Amino acid sequence: MKFFIDTANIDEIKDAASIGILDGVTTNPSLAAKETAPYKEILTEICKIVPGPVSAEVIATDYDGMMKEAEELVKIADNIVIKIPTILEGLKAIKSLSTNGVMTNATLVFSPSQALLVAKAGATFVSPFIGRLDDISQHGMELIDNICTIYNNYTYQTEVLVASVRHPMHVIESAMIGADVVTMPYNVIKQLIKHPLTDIGLEKFIADYKKAQK
Ligand code: E4P
Repeated sequence: MKFFIDTANIDEIKDAASIGILDGVTTNPSLAAKETAPYKEILTEICKIVPGPVSAEVIATDYDGMMKEAEELVKIADNIVIKIPTILEGLKAIKSLSTNGVMTNATLVFSPSQALLVAKAGATFVSPFIGRLDDISQHGMELIDNICTIYNNYTYQTEVLVASVRHPMHVIESAMIGADVVTMPYNVIKQLIKHPLTDIGLEKFIADYKKAQK
């Protein structure tokens, strides 16, 4: 399973990259708005830190506008992935970009039908937003299960990139289903390693080691 970090914060990306388990980065306009530098500068910096896929989102909602923005964004680095909203105009853009060998990430996916369409259009990644579904009392994880089943039935190459992740169980359940990628905030990456019994055990080993030195 690939691990992406879901942030536009350079310090968090550097920290996560230094752990050695980071495969890529996803950003969006809301994450970029939390930072002070302009979006393109941030993306340039991120691509220098992480060699894996870095998603950069377009703002336009029409095909021509999306293609124009994509044309600029791909100039940033070879590992830029164009993040496109899952609407009809976006579907057209995904089809054109993937036909031209540009990596794409279909964002704001909330249904299996949307996921099926973006796979047919040739998206590199599909991003189902599970936390936002949970927020409105729908089963986010069920969507991951359904998309994985559909993609496996037809051997679509589109990678299932679980997004809007809120906690470690989202990651574990995605891994059990067999999703290709999980993108998560830095705090979730750090939570994955934590266990109270590890901390208690470590404390005791250190204390006992000190006793054994007497
Ligand atoms: C994914 O690419 C999105 O950036 C992200 O996961 C959205 O998460 P949120 O629902 O926490 O905003």
